[in-house]
Amino acid sequence: MLDKKEIEMVRTACKKAREIIEELKELLCDGISTYELELKSIELMKTKKVVSAFKGYNGYPANICISVNYEVVHGLPKIGKILKEGDIVSLDVGVIYKGYYGDCADTFPVGKVEVKYIKLIEVARKAFKKALKEVYAGSKTGNIGFVIENFVQKYGFSVVRDFAGHGIGKKLHERPEIPNFGKRGEGDILYENQIIAIEPMIAEGTGETEILEDGWTAVTKDRKYSSHYENCVLVKKDGYEILG
Ligand code: MF3
Ligand code: CO
Repeated sequence: MLDKKEIEMVRTACKKAREIIEELKELLCDGISTYELELKSIELMKTKKVVSAFKGYNGYPANICISVNYEVVHGLPKIGKILKEGDIVSLDVGVIYKGYYGDCADTFPVGKVEVKYIKLIEVARKAFKKALKEVYAGSKTGNIGFVIENFVQKYGFSVVRDFAGHGIGKKLHERPEIPNFGKRGEGDILYENQIIAIEPMIAEGTGETEILEDGWTAVTKDRKYSSHYENCVLVKKDGYEILG
């Protein structure tokens, strides 16, 4: 379990990850390549005195993940990959600060985007918020997953089942796993001072995924669009604190 000082480090890591996302968001426009965003993220991490939590993780070759439209997660930034008006772009940033990890993501429109995609973005963000009332010491991961899936289905969207949220702290991925589906009262118990990354990944279609030939980019099988929101949350005795 993390002590007060360690929690403070994770809090700082998460804040810096969120700041980087907010700064990258400002650069999103028709014509920018995902590789330019990757380069900017390197610069921002340097300025903020953090290092990427993703680069080298299981061999991941880039500093951040940029997943566009039907890409769900782990989108690899690429030199020739140019964003265009109408795209929706998930920026996923993980950093290490003094040995402690922070991991955040959000999805943004490029210019004017179809209303149904704006809805897809909003529902992932709101699913995260809905899940928060299930975060307290003694709750279970199944409660979180149950609330997320229920909420997402109300809008006619699906949750992605092939990826999940996770504990975080001294490593990027720690126990417990936090699926975006589940049953009330099932799964792992949450403990006071544990930190968890809750990350609804949702889709317009079935939510089934496959991995592209680059070995990383996860896309929807039906090529329908997907959105992603992620934040780290501290489990408290009677509630939670959002860290990033
Ligand atoms: N936020 C993602 C996750 O929690 C990003 C991981 S990318 C990887 O899984 F390269 F580090 F795998
Ligand atoms: Co994560």
